[in-house]
Amino acid sequence: KKVVLAYSGGLDTSVILKWLQDTYQCEVVTFTADIGQGEELEPARRKAQQFGIQQIFIEDLREEFVRDFVYPMFRANTIYEGEYLLGTSIARPLIAKRQIEIARQVGAEAVSHGATGKGNDQVRFELGYYALEPNIKVIAPWREWDLLSREKLLAYAESHGIPVEMKHKNGGSPYSMDANLLHISYEGKGLEDPAREPEADMWRWTVAPEVAPDQPQYLELNFEKGDAVSLNGVTMTPAVLLAELNRIGGQHGIGRLDLVENRFVGMKSRGCYETPGGTILLKAHRAIESLTLDREVAHLKDDLMPRYAALIYNGYWWSPERRALQTLIDHTQQTVNGWVRLKLYKGTVMVVGRESRTDSLFDPTIATFEDDGGAYQQSDAAGFIRLNALRMRIAARLQRKE
Ligand code: ARG
Ligand code: SIN
Repeated sequence: KKVVLAYSGGLDTSVILKWLQDTYQCEVVTFTADIGQGEELEPARRKAQQFGIQQIFIEDLREEFVRDFVYPMFRANTIYEGEYLLGTSIARPLIAKRQIEIARQVGAEAVSHGATGKGNDQVRFELGYYALEPNIKVIAPWREWDLLSREKLLAYAESHGIPVEMKHKNGGSPYSMDANLLHISYEGKGLEDPAREPEADMWRWTVAPEVAPDQPQYLELNFEKGDAVSLNGVTMTPAVLLAELNRIGGQHGIGRLDLVENRFVGMKSRGCYETPGGTILLKAHRAIESLTLDREVAHLKDDLMPRYAALIYNGYWWSPERRALQTLIDHTQQTVNGWVRLKLYKGTVMVVGRESRTDSLFDPTIATFEDDGGAYQQSDAAGFIRLNALRMRIAARLQRKE
């Protein structure tokens, strides 16, 4: 019997690996993906080999992650609860998909992950597994074992010959972290008191806005069908472009976030996030849409966006309703072509220019404050306003009589 484990090479998933071998007497197949978390993958291979793993999958999924998950999400200008750019949420469906594909390939009947029983990630992984492989068996060790404290986990590692070096995960950071090309997140420890400001040295990707350069930096992003395709005139693949925006945004202190969010499982939780590239991308995408989308289409997208965001947050990426919404969103992006110029300065992203040669709905002859030569009949507005006011005038008359 085989089980495919989403394996990071860190302490937690190494304990899970050993625990699966001991508890289920099954053959563990490991799957480790590079989605831009910025860690070496070879150590994960070495460690898996130390546990006697025969089938080790190590894959670079960075382009697929940004092209097929991050970009489609950004076409909708997606944010959860007004703030969160869904960096962790959007990575889970890809991991789930690859795990299921590997399970089929190696003939495994089960998959396993290292998410706890209190969080969103377990839901995202498992909704993905079941949507893609209805009869798959899921093993979630955190919901089964009794290693619920750090001490117990370390003791287990100690007594089962798991190398000590793995204890120093996150380079010594005390936080529960998750990183990929879209963001890095921090939860737990001091953050569990929502009243307390995070320690200055928690942040890894961005400088504090107050120490960012005194000179602003200008950027130009080109969009084709709603996707960013080039930066400052240089064509880049999605993953390369996002990595570059992260680097530049980080230097200017862009995209820090400290919030209390509602988890799908019912609790509120405090998290901090750095999403420099995503913050720039969201601003730029809205700017190019402002020229190229019809008003009602844009407003419809804005109405649907919070629901689309909740679907992703709650783990419904592979659901029929998410796919249906995606079809609508993608359809609207046909005309979203052009460039946006942005100014980065001490934690802020400002749009300072935008143009679409092919798809702009902005008509300067109509919009002008100067004489438009009759392009727009100002006298039309009088009737427009009177008819729109009609029901309010009727109501006001009635009120006056009473
Ligand atoms: N609260 C965020 C979310 O639900 C981040 C979760 C981070 N996950 C982790 N395994 N550290 O998307
Ligand atoms: C976890 O519980 O594994 C991390 C937090 C979350 O999934 O929300």
